[in-house]
Amino acid sequence: MRNYKIAVIPGDGIGKEVVPVTMDVLNHAAECFQDAAFTFTEFPWGCDYYLEHGKMMDDDGIEQLEEFDAILLGAVGDPERVPDHISLWGLLIKIRRSMEQSLNIRPAKFFKGLASPLADPRDFDIMVVRENSEGEYSEAGGRIHRGQDELAIQNAVFTRKASERAIRYGYQLAGERKGKLTSATKSNGIVHSMPFWDEIFKEVSQEFPNVEATQQHIDALAAFMVSKPHEFDVIVASNLFGDILTDLGGAIMGSIGIAPAANLNTNGDHPSMFEPVHGSAPDIYGQGIANPLGQIWTAKMMLDHLGEFKMGESILDAIESTTAAGIKTQDIGGDSSTVEVAREVCDRIKFKE
Ligand code: NAD
Ligand code: IPM
Ligand code: MN
Repeated sequence: MRNYKIAVIPGDGIGKEVVPVTMDVLNHAAECFQDAAFTFTEFPWGCDYYLEHGKMMDDDGIEQLEEFDAILLGAVGDPERVPDHISLWGLLIKIRRSMEQSLNIRPAKFFKGLASPLADPRDFDIMVVRENSEGEYSEAGGRIHRGQDELAIQNAVFTRKASERAIRYGYQLAGERKGKLTSATKSNGIVHSMPFWDEIFKEVSQEFPNVEATQQHIDALAAFMVSKPHEFDVIVASNLFGDILTDLGGAIMGSIGIAPAANLNTNGDHPSMFEPVHGSAPDIYGQGIANPLGQIWTAKMMLDHLGEFKMGESILDAIESTTAAGIKTQDIGGDSSTVEVAREVCDRIKFKE
């Protein structure tokens, strides 16, 4: 019996609704397959914890997380009560950075029963490889208060190492899929970092002669994702570009509540973290209507990472058959609750050889 130790951080808002039902799905899958089990250890970190203890996580929180095989996180942010810069730097970004989770892998694809706003989303099936450690999200910058001339500065940081890592991963993934890689850029010389990114994109292309490599300006790329979504396979993007494109990917599927993500540590030094693309959705929190599919699909990505491919596949099949049967939350045109959708996914999980 393979036993996985999973650190669970529901976090804030709907994270506290979609994470518990996802643990049920994982336990149910484990029962079906009978050769693997999960030991979940829950951490109460988040904005409630901050308001009680003055910190988003324990001082030795990162060390506590080190002993786990993976981290499953819901969402962070309760902006009415705790400013986002405190909650995000204190928990979400802290884990991503301290644990060197330098890639953020975010799939999006259309499947049956989803209400995409696009007329013909049938062949939409992409993977976004988002650089997750630097870029526009660098710590370099600040706000300068000087009366009426107050200003804020943000320096984008693009290192060869991190850009190359994301780009190479994008090529590898494209090689395993349809063989097409698109780089999200803004290379018209206005943004200094992007010609550098493009240079690396070209250099690394030499290692992958079988991958068709193209680059697109981010603005046009966003438009093409809507007007010809079926033309994309893998997209590699900087931190901010990837962030924006993956909410767009969620919207094309039908809701950002479905979109999953994996924050990968690629050198094996620290655990990777699995959290959906969406946030804590304070506008719907507490109503029991949050779509749990993004979190559940995220758990499937965690299973792939752990090498439990069959179990992961069975969960994705169960998700697809649940939406195809019309059992959906409100955001995708249904009237089922978070718990009902998750229960349905559980019931549809089938053992696979
Ligand atoms: P959000 O993703 O929380 O919500 C955007 C919209 O999508 C809202 O209308 C929300 O109701 C809807 N939505 C999101 N997830 C849904 C789901 N599972 N089911 C149904 N509808 C869903 O983004 P926001 O409103 O910009 O941010 C809210 C808070 O979350 C902020 O504090 C923000 O910083 C934080 N945030 C955290 C993460 C994260 O932890 N990874 C990601 C994004 C935003
Ligand atoms: C995401 C979120 C975060 C990001 C925020 C909350 C810092 O939007 O995970 O997509 O931009 O990385
Ligand atoms: Mn985002």
